[in-house]
Amino acid sequence: RTVYVNGEYLPETEATVSIFDRGFLMADGVYEVTSVLGGRLIDFDGHLARLERSLSELDMLKPAVFDDLLDIHRELVRVNGITDGLVYLQVTRGSDGDRDFVFPDPETTEPTLVLFTQSKPGLADSPAAKTGIRVIGIDDLRWGRRDIKTVQLLYPSMGKMMAKAAGADDAWMIEDGHVTEGTSNNAYIVKGNRIITRHLSNDILHGITRAAVLRMASEAQMQVEERAFTMEEAKAADEAFVTSASAFVMPVVEIDGATLGDGTPGPVAARLREIYLEESR
Ligand code: PDD
Repeated sequence: RTVYVNGEYLPETEATVSIFDRGFLMADGVYEVTSVLGGRLIDFDGHLARLERSLSELDMLKPAVFDDLLDIHRELVRVNGITDGLVYLQVTRGSDGDRDFVFPDPETTEPTLVLFTQSKPGLADSPAAKTGIRVIGIDDLRWGRRDIKTVQLLYPSMGKMMAKAAGADDAWMIEDGHVTEGTSNNAYIVKGNRIITRHLSNDILHGITRAAVLRMASEAQMQVEERAFTMEEAKAADEAFVTSASAFVMPVVEIDGATLGDGTPGPVAARLREIYLEESR
């Protein structure tokens, strides 16, 4: 696989980053994941806009090649022959060659920019989309700026492991009695004719897929309510689903052991998945 590191396209085995890089030592970095379907990048502009915001919230300078990021994405998709898959992009604050809590001088320290692709043939036809997934509830123990897409993913990883240990597929995180989001996706329930998903704030990531799906839902005359909901409400919902760049719209059929509806993906999730994939192709 060919990857991109700080201005160079290299075989992955030749790509290197300093051991003093603040991404490595302090999780001082941000990332984006853009999906590729049929060789085309999905929602690229949204991901780029969110990257710019994440960098600015952390007082990180934009990499010098910021305006070339679309071309770099396309080149990696091309050289690696990606039809369906992902492009992962990460920017860290770099390093001035030592470990220090204080940020290095941005005038003399270049951010580290890394991109690589992951090939996922048949990404849009994942078997999980046909059966739906099962989630458990766990405490949300992450920091308070979840609107910034940082590479601090230890707790979300632990959440996926807790789900796996419980025989489920993923976890929904709970704070003050309300669901914030999934470990790597935004969470939704459907009750009657209403789609309910948490409102935007610093408590959740402002999903690019969420924005697209809510726009499509409104265009299809579906009712959307942006507010926090509890696990009790979720367990009593007619259906549920999650959204992310890599899962698109993924139906949820079981929450903390409670089966939703007849235990198969609900019509609203199925319809939104269809519309999202249709518009993305
Ligand atoms: N995760 N919430 C969290 C905590 C996420 O990590 C993600 C994305 C989302 C959905 O955002 P978007 O629709 O922009 O992908 C919500 C990516 C896919 C990941 O970490 O792999």
